[in-house]
Amino acid sequence: MSTLILGIESSCDDTSAAVIEDTKILANIVAGQEVHSKYGGVVPELASRAHQQNIIPVIDQALKQANIQKNQLDAVAFTRGPGLLGSLLVGTSFAKAFSLALNIPIIEIDHMKAHILAHFIREDESKKVPSFPFICLTVSGGHTQIVKVDDPYTFSILGETIDDAAGEAFDKAAKIMGLPYPGGPVIDKLSKEGDPKAFNFPKPRISDLNYSFSGLKTSFLYRVRDELKKDPEFIEKEKANLAASIQHVIINTLMDKLILAAEETGIRDIAVAGGVSANSGLRKALVETGKSKSWNVFIPDFEFTTDNAAMIAIAGYYKFLKKDFASQDITPYTRSSF
Ligand code: KG4
Ligand code: ZN
Repeated sequence: MSTLILGIESSCDDTSAAVIEDTKILANIVAGQEVHSKYGGVVPELASRAHQQNIIPVIDQALKQANIQKNQLDAVAFTRGPGLLGSLLVGTSFAKAFSLALNIPIIEIDHMKAHILAHFIREDESKKVPSFPFICLTVSGGHTQIVKVDDPYTFSILGETIDDAAGEAFDKAAKIMGLPYPGGPVIDKLSKEGDPKAFNFPKPRISDLNYSFSGLKTSFLYRVRDELKKDPEFIEKEKANLAASIQHVIINTLMDKLILAAEETGIRDIAVAGGVSANSGLRKALVETGKSKSWNVFIPDFEFTTDNAAMIAIAGYYKFLKKDFASQDITPYTRSSF
């Protein structure tokens, strides 16, 4: 007998619902929120309001696409945190009400662990998945972590950012250049026409397996500001080179520590996850480094890089196997629970 789980993701600015049958995704609907782009970042109040508007249509659509009825579901999994409180509350409250109405269990999911477990979404056994233990570089808008994964339930952080996340570095550089939010995909696209060596931004130097990206943002800001004084057209003329140069240093920084983590642990199954793993330069760097270091590299399908409920559903499936259910008095958390 297979297990059917509804996954709900509402931690930031995407409302998403997915249906999974064991490890196979039957539907994964994501409703983005355009409303934030003109503010250059996510406005929490607007995000929770948009989640309230989106959640029922998104779940309806997921069930329709999966071609299943509500009463066939075995459980509902939802993102408990980390994320924005108002946004998390929408998904959490909905999951509770849904589970009460259908008399099925609720499963609480950590968003960052779910990004990693997205690698285990598969139609059948033929898909190659990471072997345990493996290392995952989780890079998103709010987090940058090197995580050792011993099994689907045991995660330990080997290193993480002490300030900004890698995605934030992309987004802030884009904002400085007057580009829309989220900036990561825009910088990625612009980079393709630019020279990554055009500008030399210093690689952050930080000990152990940790990261720091706030200094990089400042040096980018100062450089752009100084050049604009000399030439008001500077950004317009140099935007591809600026994008390629900042992307280059972010990727190199990410890769340096990932290589170190692989060396220190002797682990050769290396994965990447989170929104920034959609970046074409990072994906290329991983493949190339993987070849030279004889790693088994795991890069998620684009659909599962940025926020989605499919990853919540697969994480829910693993907890379902252990009957690890939450109670009705569960509340969201905004910061990482690792
Ligand atoms: O995982 P995610 O969707 O949300 C969080 O959990 O934060 O990650 C969003 C982040 C944003 O900072 C966005 O700019 C970045 O992922 N991102 C990218 C690309 N696509 C999304 N960064 C660089 N290159 C991309 N192609
Ligand atoms: Zn995320």
